[in-house]
Amino acid sequence: MPRAIISPSVLASDFGQLTAECKRMIKGGAEWLHMDVMDGHFVPNITMGAPILSCVSKGVPGIFMDCHMMVSNPEKWVDDIADAGGSLYCFHLEATSDPLTIIDHIHERKMKAGVAISPDTPSTAVTDEIAEAADMLLVMTVYPGRGGQKFLERCVPKVAELRARFPDKDIEVDGGVGPKTIDVCADAGNNVIVAGTAIFHAPQPEEVIALLKSTVGT
Ligand code: DX5
Ligand code: ZN
Repeated sequence: MPRAIISPSVLASDFGQLTAECKRMIKGGAEWLHMDVMDGHFVPNITMGAPILSCVSKGVPGIFMDCHMMVSNPEKWVDDIADAGGSLYCFHLEATSDPLTIIDHIHERKMKAGVAISPDTPSTAVTDEIAEAADMLLVMTVYPGRGGQKFLERCVPKVAELRARFPDKDIEVDGGVGPKTIDVCADAGNNVIVAGTAIFHAPQPEEVIALLKSTVGT
């Protein structure tokens, strides 16, 4: 299995101190920062876009921005996110009929490509062709749209199905993940862990990061 990676979701951070919050997480042991981009169309909320990501990448040199694009027309934002310093561009399969062309575009812009599936989308939506082209697969364990929701354990079997098909692929889980829900994710074969509330709202985030990481592997 690929290495364990912890990607704190900045949606649970103090946006007024965004760069400081990102630095705090990196100091606490996080490898990636999960940036939830919402467009008010694919999901009801609006969060942040390329201008803010650009400030973060300038303010936190070397940061790996794991951009979770909860947007309609995901092809539209690839260039803007690349120009803003995005490291990984993960879009939803529900939002496009042409994922392979988007993955090619993401790679042309020197970002890693991820594909996400929402709770009602089966793992079979990730065809062999899509998975082979993508660098990461994201299984949502909440309905995309806001942080702090309850973990949907019924989504976890999809992780195991994808891990069985793709032993070497990065597989990310996102939504309601924390010390109480990490065990089932680890057992299913997750290696990239997103957690917002559980990390940012903890008195000692570094302890939560270390716990999540050691549960998933090294
Ligand atoms: C939900 C977002 C998640 C969310 C995770 O739409 O994609 O990344 O912020 O936050 P927690 O860990 O609080 O569920
Ligand atoms: Zn997310």
